[in-house]
Amino acid sequence: MGEPFVQISSASSTALTAGARRFYIETFGCQMNAHDSEKVAGVLLARGYVPVTNPEEADFIFYNTCSIREKAAQKVFSRLGQFRKRGAGSQIFAVLGCVAQQEGEEIFERAPHVSLVCGSASYPRLPELLEQVERGRRVTGLSLDTDECFETELTRRENRFRAYLTIMEGCDKRCSFCVVPMTRGPERSRPSQKILEECRLLADQGFSEIQLLGQTVNSYRDLSPARRSFAELLVAVGQIPGIRRVRFTTSHPRDFTPEMVAAIDACPALCDHIHLPVQSGSNAVLRRMLRGYTREEYLEKTDCIRSARRCISISTDIIVGFCGETADDFEQTLWLLERVGYDQVFSFKYSPRPRTPAGGWPDTVPEEEKGRRLIILQERQRQIQLARNQVCVGKEFEVLVEGFQPKLSQAVGRTTSNRVVNFAGRPEWVGSYMNVRVTAVGPNSWVGKRVKTSTAEAQELTAQPSQQG
Ligand code: 5AD
Repeated sequence: MGEPFVQISSASSTALTAGARRFYIETFGCQMNAHDSEKVAGVLLARGYVPVTNPEEADFIFYNTCSIREKAAQKVFSRLGQFRKRGAGSQIFAVLGCVAQQEGEEIFERAPHVSLVCGSASYPRLPELLEQVERGRRVTGLSLDTDECFETELTRRENRFRAYLTIMEGCDKRCSFCVVPMTRGPERSRPSQKILEECRLLADQGFSEIQLLGQTVNSYRDLSPARRSFAELLVAVGQIPGIRRVRFTTSHPRDFTPEMVAAIDACPALCDHIHLPVQSGSNAVLRRMLRGYTREEYLEKTDCIRSARRCISISTDIIVGFCGETADDFEQTLWLLERVGYDQVFSFKYSPRPRTPAGGWPDTVPEEEKGRRLIILQERQRQIQLARNQVCVGKEFEVLVEGFQPKLSQAVGRTTSNRVVNFAGRPEWVGSYMNVRVTAVGPNSWVGKRVKTSTAEAQELTAQPSQQG
């Protein structure tokens, strides 16, 4: 509030002239960012801008940035640097997202050809900010003081069968390593009624999979009179006719409830997969990370998931080499990998971030040792995944065909448990659901063969024998 967001431009800033309205967006980072870019694109289309796929052809270049780790944050400056070297010409540059929020007006000093710096909490003001930029001004949107989500009906979705949908934004957890509370602002949830209306609309438009998004998605709090819990919201979305798959990400272990598992058991449209970032298997490290749970409490939650009637896959995020992580702490993380038996792990070397509590602590584990631990962890997990995947050989799964690789004539499908299956197929299969028998597995994907499930499909299969390998 009261933030002086408009600055009159320097002489070098260029007004966007009528007819020069081609835009290009490059997105870095998470699904939340990918979906934010879809919403930003919608706002731009509504203002008469035209999307282009080549930045050289664009009048307006947007970078939607990520600052979760140092390397990710550097990417945008390297992009801006490339243009600076060549001379940005008449192109207008905007830096959006987490780096924008974190670096603020300093971006103008490092990259004077940038005209708009806007964090995600200010996206509701994008039309107003764009108008200022179009008049040749240099503008920032950096206030975090908001209880609003970025509501827009103008979203331009990239995928025609899977729709991302924000249900909550921001984070109040304040884990000591994490920039998100500083870059995305406080937790705020959308009313469940509105979410469900949007889901029904998406189903009518032909989307069959919905991915509910939130930085800590299961911290969702419905402040509308319906007062739906997160689990109730999941079921309500899963019951919408036409919606065959519902995913949600990312869940925080602190807000995990057995009701989430009961909902998955009760509602077939809810995918049998939960992403539950643990970060470390050592209680000492978890305490310093301010995660708000112990290893034992975390294991109660994964045991609850494993006790479900459906076989729910579990994935996680792990940071190695956090401040003060000893060899023994790391061993405890390796132990946890085995104990849980994760189906997928995303692992990262700790990267100190500015303005986080841990950012000021000694970064005790040398870079080389972080790298060593990462390799050990990834190799251990590779073995675990391979073993977990091997028991699936010979079994049949339903997949949604998400892509096609022309060189290999292979369809790329995904099971509800989030496993990728490659099988002989055709490009027009993309977007449809099929049954596949697993014939071989690696640690990261499966190979399969389409199987007939109905008379109609069986006829189609016999009509196309050469496609079936
Ligand atoms: N350094 C390394 N990894 C981090 N993550 C978040 N902050 C950092 C950091 N400072 C990882 C966490 C999180 C994922 C999205 O990124 O594992 O769950």
